[in-house]
Order: sequence, then structure tokens, then C-alpha cells
Amino acid sequence: MLKITVLYENHKNPNNDLLETAHGFSAYLEIEGKKILFDTGWHGSILLKNCNLLNISLKDLDAIIVSHAHWDHMGGITHVLEVTDNPDIYVPEEFSKVQPKEYEKYLKEPYVERVKNFKVLDRISQNIASTGTQKPLGEQALLIKYGENGETIMIVGCSHPGIAPFIEKSRNFGDVKAILGGFHGFKDVKYLINKTNVRNLYMGHCSQYIEKFQNEPTLTASSIYVGYQITL
Ligand SMILES: [Fe+2]
Repeated sequence: MLKITVLYENHKNPNNDLLETAHGFSAYLEIEGKKILFDTGWHGSILLKNCNLLNISLKDLDAIIVSHAHWDHMGGITHVLEVTDNPDIYVPEEFSKVQPKEYEKYLKEPYVERVKNFKVLDRISQNIASTGTQKPLGEQALLIKYGENGETIMIVGCSHPGIAPFIEKSRNFGDVKAILGGFHGFKDVKYLINKTNVRNLYMGHCSQYIEKFQNEPTLTASSIYVGYQITL
């Protein structure tokens, strides 16, 4: 069973005003007894506040996965490292080349060396893997197989490369049925319907065309928000 909780989002929770919204993305994933943080939002203080409100502890994380080198996805990592024990840290290989100044600015000692010794994510387990980084800036999406027949959800940060390159990279791994996260400017409904088995979309953060997908009868497109939870 896979449980996903959105910890950091641009969109506010309709039922809970205490949860803080801000530009950025982070999701907490529980699967196979593992606890995984996908992205860390921009402001670590907001991330930790939302964790407290949602009764989620980051202390015994198994892994932190960063989708790409933008600070609305990685800015909170110092705060996370202050409260967590010893997770594996997976940062895109391209990270330190893309924004070395920001790297030093946002990543506080004593964590600089720890993050610089990051791992490049291939697979965490048989059911959890990266798409590998895609151009232009080196972004990865996370693939999690949750069903016995290979049903897979893809977790995306901003989808700067577009959704299609990630889907194409997923084909050897599993059958992507759902996508959750930031879709940026992706709006190719026909591609999803005709070339993939994706039918459930959980759209938030930087997604610009949520309504376009919600108007398509063969897709189920939900707007996600801080504190949004699903279990698959
Ligand atoms: Fe973003």
C-alpha cells in the first residue's frame, strides 16, 4: 500500500486554514515500510510546521529525493536535515553544476558536504525508481509501483522537461496509471489519452492547465493542495 501526503503546496487546504501554503512542492510517501520525502519545498520552517500539523515526523526518513535544482523544491533541505537521522539523499547529478551559488547560499553547514556526497537515484527497491534526469536542467521523476499488475504512479516536481519524456522513460519499469505533482505548462491531453494508460491526475504546484484536463471525460483530474492525502 502506498500513502502520499502533500506537505508543501501552492494551493490551500479547503478544510484546514492552519496548514500554510507557499510556492513550492513536497510530498511524504510511505510504502513497503519506507518513509520517503520527495522534494522539500522552499521554506523549511513552513515544511516543518505543516508536518507538525499533519502529525508527520521526518526523524526516521529512509530517503530524501530532490527532483531538480530549483529552490521551491530544495530550499527546505537544511531544516529537514536538522530533524532527521540519516536518510539517503538523492539529488540530480546536474545539481551542483546548474546553481553552484545557490547551493552554497541555501545549504547551510554542516550539511553541505553531506548533500554534496549525494547519491544518483536509480532504484530504491524493485518498486521504487527514478526516471533518470531529463533535460533541459536535469529533473527526475519518481516511479512507484503500487499494484500487482505493474500499476505505477509517477511523482513529479515541476515537469520542466514535459510529462512525455518521463513517461517514455517509465515504460520499462511499469504501467503509469497516475501522475501527482507539478505539471508546469503540460497540456497535451491527446498524448496522455492516446499514447499512455494514465487516467488519474493529481495536479498542483506549478500546473497551468488543470481545467483543460478536468474537462476531458476520459481523465480524472484532481486539484491537490497542502495536506492532500491519497492511498493507493
Ligand atoms: Fe517548482
